[in-house]
Amino acid sequence: MRPAWHRAVPPTTGGSPLSRPSSPAHPAELRAAARHLLRRHPAGPETPGTGDRPGVGRRTLLTSAGAAAVLAFATGLPGSAHAAALDPARIKRDPFTLGVASGDPLPGSVLLWTRLAPRPYETGSGLPRGSFAVDWEVAEDDRFARIARRGSATAHPEFDHSLHVEVTGLEPARVYFYRFRTGKWISPVGRTRTAPDPGARVRELRVALASCQAYHDGYFTAHAHLAEEDLDAVLHLGDYLYEYPVGAGGGARAYRDRKLPGRFDRETRTLAEYRLRYGLYKSDPDLRAAHAAHPFVLTWDDHETENNYAGRKPENDVRPEDFLLRRAAAYRAYWENQPLRLPQRPKGPDMRLYRRLHFGRLAQFDVLDTRQYRSDQAYGDGWQRPGPKSEAIRRTMLGAGQERWLIDGWHSSTARWNLLPQQVTFARRRDVPGPGHKLSMDSWDGYPAARARVLAGAEAAGIRNLVVLTGDVHVAYGFDLKQDWDDPAARTVGAEIATTSISSGRNGTAQPANWSRLFEANPHLRFYDGRRGYTVLTLREHTARADFRAVPAVTVPGASVLTAGSLLMIAGSPGLRPV
Ligand SMILES: [Fe+2]
Repeated sequence: MRPAWHRAVPPTTGGSPLSRPSSPAHPAELRAAARHLLRRHPAGPETPGTGDRPGVGRRTLLTSAGAAAVLAFATGLPGSAHAAALDPARIKRDPFTLGVASGDPLPGSVLLWTRLAPRPYETGSGLPRGSFAVDWEVAEDDRFARIARRGSATAHPEFDHSLHVEVTGLEPARVYFYRFRTGKWISPVGRTRTAPDPGARVRELRVALASCQAYHDGYFTAHAHLAEEDLDAVLHLGDYLYEYPVGAGGGARAYRDRKLPGRFDRETRTLAEYRLRYGLYKSDPDLRAAHAAHPFVLTWDDHETENNYAGRKPENDVRPEDFLLRRAAAYRAYWENQPLRLPQRPKGPDMRLYRRLHFGRLAQFDVLDTRQYRSDQAYGDGWQRPGPKSEAIRRTMLGAGQERWLIDGWHSSTARWNLLPQQVTFARRRDVPGPGHKLSMDSWDGYPAARARVLAGAEAAGIRNLVVLTGDVHVAYGFDLKQDWDDPAARTVGAEIATTSISSGRNGTAQPANWSRLFEANPHLRFYDGRRGYTVLTLREHTARADFRAVPAVTVPGASVLTAGSLLMIAGSPGLRPV
Protein backbone atom coordinates (compact mmCIF):
# COMPACT_ATOMS: atom_id res chain seq x y z
CA MET A 1 0.00 0.00 0.00
CA ARG A 2 1.28 3.44 -0.83
CA PRO A 3 1.35 5.57 2.30
CA ALA A 4 -0.81 8.67 2.53
CA TRP A 5 2.12 11.02 1.90
CA HIS A 6 2.42 9.62 -1.64
CA ARG A 7 -0.34 11.93 -2.80
CA ALA A 8 0.83 14.38 -5.40
CA VAL A 9 0.97 18.07 -4.65
CA PRO A 10 -1.07 19.93 -7.23
CA PRO A 11 0.93 22.57 -9.05
CA THR A 12 0.10 26.07 -7.94
CA THR A 13 0.31 29.33 -9.76
CA GLY A 14 0.19 32.95 -8.71
CA GLY A 15 1.96 34.48 -5.75
CA SER A 16 4.33 37.37 -5.61
CA PRO A 17 7.00 37.63 -8.30
CA LEU A 18 10.60 37.01 -7.34
CA SER A 19 13.41 39.38 -8.00
CA ARG A 20 15.01 38.79 -11.38
CA PRO A 21 18.61 37.53 -11.47
CA SER A 22 19.63 40.54 -13.49
CA SER A 23 18.48 42.93 -10.76
CA PRO A 24 20.58 43.27 -7.57
CA ALA A 25 19.83 39.93 -5.91
CA HIS A 26 20.69 40.86 -2.34
CA PRO A 27 19.86 43.88 -0.17
CA ALA A 28 22.46 46.67 -0.19
CA GLU A 29 23.32 46.35 3.51
CA LEU A 30 24.07 42.62 3.14
CA ARG A 31 26.29 43.27 0.15
CA ALA A 32 28.16 45.90 2.15
CA ALA A 33 28.63 43.46 5.01
CA ALA A 34 29.92 40.78 2.65
CA ARG A 35 32.38 43.26 1.11
CA HIS A 36 33.55 44.05 4.62
CA LEU A 37 34.16 40.36 5.38
CA LEU A 38 36.10 39.91 2.17
CA ARG A 39 38.24 43.00 2.76
CA ARG A 40 39.32 41.66 6.13
CA HIS A 41 39.92 38.14 4.80
CA PRO A 42 40.56 38.30 1.08
CA ALA A 43 42.33 34.95 0.97
CA GLY A 44 40.50 31.67 0.79
CA PRO A 45 40.90 28.66 3.06
CA GLU A 46 44.58 28.19 2.22
CA THR A 47 45.36 31.00 4.64
CA PRO A 48 45.37 29.50 8.14
CA GLY A 49 42.74 30.79 10.50
CA THR A 50 40.30 32.24 7.98
CA GLY A 51 37.20 30.43 8.99
CA ASP A 52 38.30 26.89 8.25
CA ARG A 53 38.92 26.05 11.86
CA PRO A 54 35.83 25.42 13.95
CA GLY A 55 35.47 27.86 16.81
CA VAL A 56 38.71 29.75 16.62
CA GLY A 57 38.63 30.41 12.88
CA ARG A 58 35.07 31.57 12.72
CA ARG A 59 35.41 33.65 15.84
CA THR A 60 38.44 35.38 14.37
CA LEU A 61 36.55 36.01 11.19
CA LEU A 62 33.50 37.43 12.87
CA THR A 63 35.31 39.46 15.49
CA SER A 64 37.50 41.20 13.01
CA ALA A 65 34.66 41.67 10.58
CA GLY A 66 32.92 43.87 13.07
CA ALA A 67 29.53 44.02 14.64
CA ALA A 68 27.90 45.60 11.62
CA ALA A 69 28.62 42.65 9.38
CA VAL A 70 27.55 40.16 12.02
CA LEU A 71 24.30 41.99 12.53
CA ALA A 72 23.66 42.14 8.84
CA PHE A 73 24.17 38.40 8.44
CA ALA A 74 22.25 37.57 11.58
CA THR A 75 19.07 39.39 10.62
CA GLY A 76 16.22 37.02 10.13
CA LEU A 77 16.81 35.02 13.30
CA PRO A 78 13.64 34.46 15.31
CA GLY A 79 13.01 37.34 17.64
CA SER A 80 14.87 39.88 15.55
CA ALA A 81 11.75 40.77 13.61
CA HIS A 82 9.22 40.10 16.40
CA ALA A 83 6.84 38.08 14.26
CA ALA A 84 3.51 37.63 16.02
CA ALA A 85 2.27 34.22 17.17
CA LEU A 86 -0.73 33.40 15.00
CA ASP A 87 -3.70 31.11 15.53
CA PRO A 88 -3.21 27.87 13.53
CA ALA A 89 -6.91 28.08 12.64
CA ARG A 90 -5.73 30.61 10.06
CA ILE A 91 -4.08 27.78 8.08
CA LYS A 92 -6.77 26.95 5.54
CA ARG A 93 -4.97 24.27 3.51
CA ASP A 94 -2.89 21.25 4.46
CA PRO A 95 0.49 22.70 5.52
CA PHE A 96 2.29 19.31 5.48
CA THR A 97 2.72 19.12 1.70
CA LEU A 98 6.49 18.56 2.01
CA GLY A 99 6.15 15.58 4.30
CA VAL A 100 8.24 14.81 7.35
CA ALA A 101 11.82 13.74 7.92
CA SER A 102 14.19 12.61 10.64
CA GLY A 103 17.94 12.71 10.82
CA ASP A 104 21.28 12.33 12.59
CA PRO A 105 20.30 9.47 14.92
CA LEU A 106 22.13 9.33 18.25
CA PRO A 107 21.71 6.76 21.02
CA GLY A 108 18.26 7.60 22.38
CA SER A 109 17.82 10.74 20.28
CA VAL A 110 16.75 11.77 16.82
CA LEU A 111 16.06 15.03 15.00
CA LEU A 112 12.56 15.50 13.58
CA TRP A 113 11.82 17.87 10.72
CA THR A 114 8.90 19.33 8.86
CA ARG A 115 8.06 22.63 7.19
CA LEU A 116 4.64 24.27 7.02
CA ALA A 117 3.95 25.02 3.36
CA PRO A 118 0.31 25.04 2.21
CA ARG A 119 1.47 26.40 -1.17
CA PRO A 120 5.07 25.22 -1.59
CA TYR A 121 5.41 26.63 -5.11
CA GLU A 122 4.89 30.20 -3.90
CA THR A 123 7.27 32.53 -2.08
CA GLY A 124 6.23 32.42 1.59
CA SER A 125 4.56 29.04 0.97
CA GLY A 126 1.07 30.49 1.40
CA LEU A 127 1.44 31.42 5.07
CA PRO A 128 1.15 34.85 6.68
CA ARG A 129 4.29 36.28 8.30
CA GLY A 130 3.83 35.03 11.82
CA SER A 131 4.80 32.06 13.93
CA PHE A 132 2.68 28.96 14.53
CA ALA A 133 2.73 26.45 17.38
CA VAL A 134 3.13 22.88 16.16
CA ASP A 135 2.66 19.79 18.36
CA TRP A 136 4.76 16.70 17.79
CA GLU A 137 4.63 13.19 19.13
CA VAL A 138 6.83 10.13 19.01
CA ALA A 139 5.35 6.69 19.55
CA GLU A 140 6.46 3.09 19.70
CA ASP A 141 3.74 2.05 17.27
CA ASP A 142 2.40 3.56 14.06
CA ARG A 143 -1.09 3.95 15.54
CA PHE A 144 0.31 6.16 18.29
CA ALA A 145 -1.18 4.04 21.08
CA ARG A 146 2.10 3.98 23.04
CA ILE A 147 3.47 7.51 23.13
CA ALA A 148 7.16 7.78 24.03
CA ARG A 149 7.58 11.57 23.90
CA ARG A 150 5.48 14.57 22.92
CA GLY A 151 5.88 18.33 22.93
CA SER A 152 5.30 21.58 21.15
CA ALA A 153 7.59 23.66 18.94
CA THR A 154 7.33 26.95 17.09
CA ALA A 155 7.49 27.34 13.31
CA HIS A 156 9.12 30.73 12.76
CA PRO A 157 8.67 32.71 9.56
CA GLU A 158 12.37 33.65 9.79
CA PHE A 159 13.16 29.98 9.09
CA ASP A 160 10.42 29.69 6.49
CA HIS A 161 8.19 27.87 9.02
CA SER A 162 10.55 24.91 9.25
CA LEU A 163 10.78 22.86 12.44
CA HIS A 164 13.83 21.10 13.86
CA VAL A 165 12.90 19.15 16.99
CA GLU A 166 15.70 17.41 18.86
CA VAL A 167 13.92 14.58 20.68
CA THR A 168 15.84 13.01 23.55
CA GLY A 169 15.05 10.41 26.20
CA LEU A 170 14.29 7.64 23.72
CA GLU A 171 15.58 4.08 23.85
CA PRO A 172 18.72 3.32 21.83
CA ALA A 173 18.55 1.13 18.69
CA ARG A 174 14.79 1.31 18.44
CA VAL A 175 12.24 2.08 15.74
CA TYR A 176 9.82 4.95 16.46
CA PHE A 177 6.99 6.64 14.62
CA TYR A 178 6.36 10.38 14.68
CA ARG A 179 3.96 13.03 13.42
CA PHE A 180 3.16 16.73 13.76
CA ARG A 181 -0.09 18.63 14.26
CA THR A 182 -1.07 22.25 13.93
CA GLY A 183 -4.69 23.42 14.12
CA LYS A 184 -6.83 20.79 12.46
CA TRP A 185 -3.99 19.49 10.29
CA ILE A 186 -2.05 16.30 11.03
CA SER A 187 1.11 15.40 9.16
CA PRO A 188 1.89 12.06 7.50
CA VAL A 189 3.52 9.55 9.84
CA GLY A 190 7.28 9.15 9.71
CA ARG A 191 9.32 6.18 10.84
CA THR A 192 12.74 6.60 12.39
CA ARG A 193 15.33 4.70 14.35
CA THR A 194 17.71 5.73 17.11
CA ALA A 195 21.38 4.73 17.14
CA PRO A 196 22.64 1.96 19.43
CA ASP A 197 24.51 2.66 22.66
CA PRO A 198 28.19 3.49 22.09
CA GLY A 199 29.39 0.27 23.68
CA ALA A 200 26.75 -1.96 22.09
CA ARG A 201 27.69 -4.98 20.04
CA VAL A 202 25.68 -4.42 16.88
CA ARG A 203 25.05 -7.54 14.82
CA GLU A 204 24.19 -5.72 11.61
CA LEU A 205 23.85 -2.18 10.27
CA ARG A 206 22.20 -1.43 6.94
CA VAL A 207 22.51 1.99 5.34
CA ALA A 208 21.66 3.21 1.85
CA LEU A 209 23.79 5.69 -0.08
CA ALA A 210 22.10 8.26 -2.32
CA SER A 211 23.24 11.32 -4.23
CA CYS A 212 22.65 13.56 -7.23
CA GLN A 213 18.94 14.00 -7.76
CA ALA A 214 18.40 16.44 -10.61
CA TYR A 215 14.63 16.96 -10.72
CA HIS A 216 14.79 18.08 -14.33
CA ASP A 217 16.66 14.90 -15.37
CA GLY A 218 14.00 12.44 -14.33
CA TYR A 219 11.80 10.83 -11.71
CA PHE A 220 13.05 9.90 -8.24
CA THR A 221 11.92 6.29 -8.70
CA ALA A 222 15.08 5.10 -6.97
CA HIS A 223 13.85 6.82 -3.79
CA ALA A 224 10.54 4.93 -3.97
CA HIS A 225 12.50 1.67 -3.93
CA LEU A 226 14.90 2.94 -1.29
CA ALA A 227 11.86 3.70 0.91
CA GLU A 228 10.89 0.03 0.77
CA GLU A 229 14.34 -1.22 1.92
CA ASP A 230 14.95 -2.38 5.47
CA LEU A 231 17.49 0.25 6.62
CA ASP A 232 18.89 1.85 9.74
CA ALA A 233 19.64 5.12 7.94
CA VAL A 234 20.18 6.80 4.57
CA LEU A 235 23.43 8.63 3.85
CA HIS A 236 22.77 11.40 1.35
CA LEU A 237 26.08 12.37 -0.21
CA GLY A 238 25.17 15.62 -1.92
CA ASP A 239 23.58 17.28 -4.92
CA TYR A 240 20.25 17.02 -3.13
CA LEU A 241 19.10 19.70 -5.54
CA TYR A 242 20.42 21.51 -8.59
CA GLU A 243 20.46 25.25 -9.06
CA TYR A 244 19.67 25.10 -12.79
CA PRO A 245 16.37 26.27 -14.30
CA VAL A 246 13.46 23.81 -14.35
CA GLY A 247 10.98 24.36 -17.18
CA ALA A 248 7.19 24.14 -17.06
CA GLY A 249 7.22 20.45 -18.01
CA GLY A 250 9.78 19.51 -15.37
CA GLY A 251 12.53 18.87 -17.95
CA ALA A 252 13.00 15.18 -18.76
CA ARG A 253 9.94 14.36 -16.63
CA ALA A 254 7.90 15.78 -19.50
CA TYR A 255 4.79 16.44 -17.43
CA ARG A 256 1.52 16.35 -19.34
CA ASP A 257 -0.78 16.72 -16.34
CA ARG A 258 0.67 19.88 -14.81
CA LYS A 259 2.72 22.97 -15.53
CA LEU A 260 5.38 24.18 -13.15
CA PRO A 261 5.33 27.94 -12.45
CA GLY A 262 7.77 30.11 -14.39
CA ARG A 263 9.60 31.04 -11.18
CA PHE A 264 11.41 27.68 -11.32
CA ASP A 265 12.71 28.40 -14.80
CA ARG A 266 15.76 30.33 -13.63
CA GLU A 267 18.97 29.60 -11.75
CA THR A 268 18.62 29.86 -7.96
CA ARG A 269 20.53 32.78 -6.44
CA THR A 270 18.51 34.33 -3.64
CA LEU A 271 17.22 32.91 -0.37
CA ALA A 272 13.66 33.00 -1.75
CA GLU A 273 14.72 31.08 -4.85
CA TYR A 274 16.61 28.38 -2.93
CA ARG A 275 13.66 27.96 -0.56
CA LEU A 276 11.29 27.56 -3.49
CA ARG A 277 13.58 24.98 -5.06
CA TYR A 278 13.41 22.84 -1.91
CA GLY A 279 9.64 23.19 -2.10
CA LEU A 280 9.72 21.81 -5.64
CA TYR A 281 12.02 18.90 -4.80
CA LYS A 282 10.29 17.93 -1.58
CA SER A 283 6.90 17.93 -3.27
CA ASP A 284 8.12 14.81 -5.12
CA PRO A 285 6.22 11.85 -3.59
CA ASP A 286 9.11 9.38 -3.92
CA LEU A 287 11.55 11.66 -2.10
CA ARG A 288 8.96 12.25 0.63
CA ALA A 289 8.49 8.50 0.99
CA ALA A 290 12.23 7.96 1.46
CA HIS A 291 12.41 10.64 4.15
CA ALA A 292 9.33 9.30 5.92
CA ALA A 293 10.70 5.76 5.94
CA HIS A 294 14.26 6.27 7.25
CA PRO A 295 16.39 8.80 9.15
CA PHE A 296 18.76 10.68 6.83
CA VAL A 297 22.35 11.72 7.44
CA LEU A 298 23.15 14.41 4.91
CA THR A 299 26.09 16.23 3.53
CA TRP A 300 26.19 18.51 0.52
CA ASP A 301 28.17 18.85 -2.66
CA ASP A 302 28.31 21.85 -4.97
CA HIS A 303 24.88 22.09 -6.59
CA GLU A 304 23.04 22.93 -3.37
CA THR A 305 24.87 26.24 -3.87
CA GLU A 306 26.49 26.46 -7.30
CA ASN A 307 28.27 24.09 -9.69
CA ASN A 308 31.94 23.44 -8.78
CA TYR A 309 32.36 26.33 -6.35
CA ALA A 310 35.41 26.05 -4.10
CA GLY A 311 35.29 27.65 -0.67
CA ARG A 312 34.69 31.32 -1.40
CA LYS A 313 35.42 31.02 -5.12
CA PRO A 314 32.38 30.97 -7.40
CA GLU A 315 32.20 29.04 -10.64
CA ASN A 316 31.88 32.16 -12.74
CA ASP A 317 33.21 35.66 -12.74
CA VAL A 318 30.89 37.36 -10.26
CA ARG A 319 31.66 39.89 -7.54
CA PRO A 320 33.09 38.04 -4.51
CA GLU A 321 30.65 39.67 -2.10
CA ASP A 322 27.75 38.51 -4.27
CA PHE A 323 28.97 34.93 -4.14
CA LEU A 324 29.42 35.06 -0.37
CA LEU A 325 25.81 36.20 -0.03
CA ARG A 326 24.64 33.52 -2.42
CA ARG A 327 26.48 30.95 -0.32
CA ALA A 328 24.83 32.30 2.84
CA ALA A 329 21.40 32.07 1.18
CA ALA A 330 22.03 28.53 -0.11
CA TYR A 331 23.37 27.32 3.24
CA ARG A 332 20.45 28.78 5.14
CA ALA A 333 17.84 27.24 2.84
CA TYR A 334 19.71 23.93 3.06
CA TRP A 335 19.55 23.87 6.85
CA GLU A 336 15.94 25.01 6.93
CA ASN A 337 14.89 22.18 4.64
CA GLN A 338 16.89 19.26 6.01
CA PRO A 339 16.68 17.15 9.17
CA LEU A 340 19.87 18.65 10.60
CA ARG A 341 20.55 19.45 14.24
CA LEU A 342 21.07 22.89 15.77
CA PRO A 343 24.92 22.81 15.71
CA GLN A 344 24.59 22.70 11.92
CA ARG A 345 22.55 25.91 11.72
CA PRO A 346 24.58 28.31 9.57
CA LYS A 347 25.99 31.63 10.69
CA GLY A 348 25.94 33.79 7.60
CA PRO A 349 28.13 32.12 4.96
CA ASP A 350 29.56 29.55 7.41
CA MET A 351 28.01 26.22 8.36
CA ARG A 352 29.54 23.44 10.40
CA LEU A 353 28.36 20.42 8.42
CA TYR A 354 31.16 17.98 9.18
CA ARG A 355 30.34 15.79 12.14
CA ARG A 356 30.76 12.31 13.57
CA LEU A 357 28.17 9.60 14.21
CA HIS A 358 28.62 6.24 15.92
CA PHE A 359 26.67 3.01 15.64
CA GLY A 360 27.80 1.05 18.66
CA ARG A 361 31.21 -0.56 18.31
CA LEU A 362 30.44 -1.54 14.75
CA ALA A 363 30.75 1.70 12.79
CA GLN A 364 31.99 5.27 12.98
CA PHE A 365 30.86 7.71 10.31
CA ASP A 366 32.96 10.84 9.80
CA VAL A 367 30.70 12.95 7.61
CA LEU A 368 32.85 15.33 5.57
CA ASP A 369 32.31 18.67 3.84
CA THR A 370 34.57 18.86 0.78
CA ARG A 371 33.19 22.16 -0.56
CA GLN A 372 33.25 24.88 2.06
CA TYR A 373 36.96 24.97 2.86
CA ARG A 374 38.73 23.67 -0.24
CA SER A 375 41.39 25.38 -2.33
CA ASP A 376 40.31 26.49 -5.78
CA GLN A 377 40.43 23.82 -8.47
CA ALA A 378 43.80 23.80 -10.27
CA TYR A 379 44.29 24.44 -13.99
CA GLY A 380 40.85 25.97 -14.40
CA ASP A 381 38.89 22.89 -13.21
CA GLY A 382 37.61 20.03 -15.37
CA TRP A 383 39.72 17.08 -16.65
CA GLN A 384 43.35 18.21 -16.91
CA ARG A 385 46.89 16.91 -17.01
CA PRO A 386 48.17 16.93 -13.41
CA GLY A 387 51.15 19.14 -12.62
CA PRO A 388 52.83 21.29 -9.98
CA LYS A 389 49.70 23.40 -9.47
CA SER A 390 47.44 20.47 -8.63
CA GLU A 391 50.18 18.66 -6.73
CA ALA A 392 51.18 21.56 -4.46
CA ILE A 393 51.57 20.41 -0.86
CA ARG A 394 49.61 23.31 0.62
CA ARG A 395 46.42 22.57 -1.31
CA THR A 396 43.53 21.52 0.90
CA MET A 397 40.26 19.69 0.32
CA LEU A 398 38.96 19.79 3.89
CA GLY A 399 40.58 22.92 5.28
CA ALA A 400 43.14 22.67 8.08
CA GLY A 401 40.52 22.52 10.84
CA GLN A 402 38.42 19.73 9.40
CA GLU A 403 41.49 17.72 8.39
CA ARG A 404 42.81 17.92 11.95
CA TRP A 405 39.38 17.08 13.38
CA LEU A 406 39.17 13.99 11.16
CA ILE A 407 42.56 12.59 12.04
CA ASP A 408 42.31 13.46 15.74
CA GLY A 409 38.93 11.70 15.83
CA TRP A 410 40.38 8.62 14.20
CA HIS A 411 42.94 8.36 16.98
CA SER A 412 40.15 7.63 19.46
CA SER A 413 38.12 5.40 17.15
CA THR A 414 37.37 1.93 18.45
CA ALA A 415 35.01 1.12 15.59
CA ARG A 416 35.25 -2.06 13.55
CA TRP A 417 34.42 -0.11 10.35
CA ASN A 418 35.48 3.50 9.79
CA LEU A 419 33.39 5.12 7.09
CA LEU A 420 33.88 8.46 5.38
CA PRO A 421 30.65 9.74 3.82
CA GLN A 422 31.76 12.55 1.50
CA GLN A 423 31.26 13.92 -1.99
CA VAL A 424 33.92 13.52 -4.66
CA THR A 425 35.90 10.55 -5.96
CA PHE A 426 38.75 9.71 -3.59
CA ALA A 427 40.70 7.06 -5.50
CA ARG A 428 42.93 8.03 -8.38
CA ARG A 429 40.97 7.85 -11.62
CA ARG A 430 42.79 8.27 -14.92
CA ASP A 431 40.68 8.82 -18.02
CA VAL A 432 42.91 6.76 -20.32
CA PRO A 433 45.74 4.26 -19.85
CA GLY A 434 49.31 5.28 -20.48
CA PRO A 435 50.98 8.67 -20.73
CA GLY A 436 49.00 11.81 -21.46
CA HIS A 437 46.16 10.84 -19.11
CA LYS A 438 44.02 13.46 -17.41
CA LEU A 439 42.49 13.63 -13.94
CA SER A 440 39.40 15.37 -12.59
CA MET A 441 40.55 18.58 -10.91
CA ASP A 442 37.30 18.79 -8.90
CA SER A 443 37.84 15.42 -7.20
CA TRP A 444 40.61 14.32 -4.78
CA ASP A 445 42.80 13.81 -7.85
CA GLY A 446 43.06 17.60 -7.93
CA TYR A 447 44.21 17.58 -4.29
CA PRO A 448 46.63 14.61 -4.10
CA ALA A 449 48.68 16.03 -1.21
CA ALA A 450 45.52 16.36 0.88
CA ARG A 451 44.53 12.79 -0.02
CA ALA A 452 47.95 11.52 1.01
CA ARG A 453 47.65 13.36 4.36
CA VAL A 454 44.27 11.72 5.02
CA LEU A 455 45.59 8.24 4.20
CA ALA A 456 48.72 8.82 6.29
CA GLY A 457 46.48 10.02 9.14
CA ALA A 458 44.39 6.85 8.94
CA GLU A 459 47.52 4.75 9.00
CA ALA A 460 49.04 6.64 11.93
CA ALA A 461 45.80 6.40 13.90
CA GLY A 462 45.68 2.68 13.22
CA ILE A 463 41.98 2.72 12.37
CA ARG A 464 40.38 -0.50 11.20
CA ASN A 465 38.66 -1.02 7.87
CA LEU A 466 38.54 2.38 6.14
CA VAL A 467 35.69 2.72 3.63
CA VAL A 468 35.20 5.98 1.72
CA LEU A 469 31.60 6.60 0.60
CA THR A 470 31.22 8.88 -2.40
CA GLY A 471 28.58 10.59 -4.57
CA ASP A 472 28.92 13.15 -7.37
CA VAL A 473 29.91 11.01 -10.37
CA HIS A 474 26.48 9.71 -11.50
CA VAL A 475 27.85 6.18 -11.91
CA ALA A 476 28.59 3.38 -9.44
CA TYR A 477 32.23 2.57 -8.74
CA GLY A 478 34.10 0.27 -6.39
CA PHE A 479 37.79 1.08 -5.89
CA ASP A 480 40.55 -0.43 -3.82
CA LEU A 481 42.49 2.35 -2.12
CA LYS A 482 46.22 1.87 -2.73
CA GLN A 483 49.23 2.93 -0.74
CA ASP A 484 50.93 3.68 -4.06
CA TRP A 485 48.59 4.41 -6.95
CA ASP A 486 51.32 3.71 -9.50
CA ASP A 487 51.95 0.18 -8.28
CA PRO A 488 49.06 -2.29 -8.66
CA ALA A 489 50.94 -4.64 -6.35
CA ALA A 490 51.13 -2.01 -3.59
CA ARG A 491 49.30 -2.60 -0.34
CA THR A 492 45.54 -2.00 -0.36
CA VAL A 493 44.66 0.30 2.53
CA GLY A 494 40.89 0.58 2.23
CA ALA A 495 37.99 0.70 -0.17
CA GLU A 496 35.80 3.29 -1.85
CA ILE A 497 32.14 2.79 -2.71
CA ALA A 498 30.76 5.48 -5.04
CA THR A 499 27.00 5.48 -5.37
CA THR A 500 25.39 6.41 -8.67
CA SER A 501 22.88 9.24 -9.11
CA ILE A 502 19.21 9.03 -8.21
CA SER A 503 18.34 10.76 -11.50
CA SER A 504 21.16 13.08 -12.67
CA GLY A 505 22.35 12.28 -16.17
CA ARG A 506 18.90 10.97 -17.23
CA ASN A 507 18.74 7.27 -18.19
CA GLY A 508 22.08 5.53 -17.81
CA THR A 509 23.56 2.39 -19.33
CA ALA A 510 25.25 -0.53 -17.58
CA GLN A 511 28.47 -0.11 -19.56
CA PRO A 512 29.12 3.48 -20.67
CA ALA A 513 31.43 4.08 -23.65
CA ASN A 514 34.56 4.35 -21.48
CA TRP A 515 33.81 1.18 -19.48
CA SER A 516 36.72 -1.02 -20.65
CA ARG A 517 39.11 1.90 -20.95
CA LEU A 518 38.55 2.94 -17.33
CA PHE A 519 39.29 -0.56 -16.02
CA GLU A 520 42.46 -0.63 -18.12
CA ALA A 521 43.57 2.80 -16.93
CA ASN A 522 42.85 2.04 -13.26
CA PRO A 523 43.81 -1.46 -12.10
CA HIS A 524 42.38 -0.72 -8.65
CA LEU A 525 38.89 -0.16 -10.13
CA ARG A 526 36.82 -3.20 -9.13
CA PHE A 527 33.32 -2.28 -10.26
CA TYR A 528 31.69 0.19 -12.64
CA ASP A 529 28.03 0.50 -13.66
CA GLY A 530 26.47 3.52 -15.34
CA ARG A 531 22.79 3.17 -14.45
CA ARG A 532 20.81 5.34 -12.03
CA GLY A 533 19.95 4.07 -8.55
CA TYR A 534 21.33 3.85 -5.02
CA THR A 535 23.54 1.53 -2.95
CA VAL A 536 22.81 -0.58 0.11
CA LEU A 537 25.71 -1.16 2.48
CA THR A 538 25.37 -3.96 5.02
CA LEU A 539 27.95 -3.92 7.81
CA ARG A 540 28.60 -6.87 10.11
CA GLU A 541 31.45 -7.65 12.45
CA HIS A 542 33.41 -9.65 9.91
CA THR A 543 32.05 -8.46 6.55
CA ALA A 544 30.70 -5.44 4.74
CA ARG A 545 28.69 -5.83 1.57
CA ALA A 546 27.74 -3.22 -1.03
CA ASP A 547 24.73 -3.95 -3.25
CA PHE A 548 24.45 -1.54 -6.16
CA ARG A 549 20.76 -1.08 -6.97
CA ALA A 550 19.82 0.21 -10.42
CA VAL A 551 16.67 1.39 -12.17
CA PRO A 552 16.56 0.91 -15.96
CA ALA A 553 15.04 4.35 -16.64
CA VAL A 554 14.19 7.62 -14.89
CA THR A 555 12.52 9.57 -17.72
CA VAL A 556 9.36 7.52 -17.18
CA PRO A 557 7.86 6.95 -13.73
CA GLY A 558 7.51 3.56 -12.07
CA ALA A 559 10.64 1.70 -13.22
CA SER A 560 11.50 -1.53 -11.42
CA VAL A 561 14.70 -2.04 -9.45
CA LEU A 562 17.46 -4.62 -9.85
CA THR A 563 20.86 -5.29 -8.30
CA ALA A 564 23.55 -4.32 -10.79
CA GLY A 565 26.32 -5.95 -8.80
CA SER A 566 27.64 -6.63 -5.30
CA LEU A 567 31.01 -6.35 -3.61
CA LEU A 568 32.25 -7.85 -0.39
CA MET A 569 34.80 -6.56 2.11
CA ILE A 570 36.35 -8.79 4.76
CA ALA A 571 37.30 -7.12 8.04
CA GLY A 572 41.07 -7.01 8.48
CA SER A 573 41.73 -7.82 4.83
CA PRO A 574 41.31 -4.60 2.83
CA GLY A 575 40.11 -4.76 -0.74
CA LEU A 576 36.90 -5.37 -2.64
CA ARG A 577 35.84 -8.83 -3.74
CA PRO A 578 33.11 -9.58 -6.28
CA VAL A 579 30.21 -11.57 -4.86
FE1 LIG B 1 25.65 15.66 -9.26
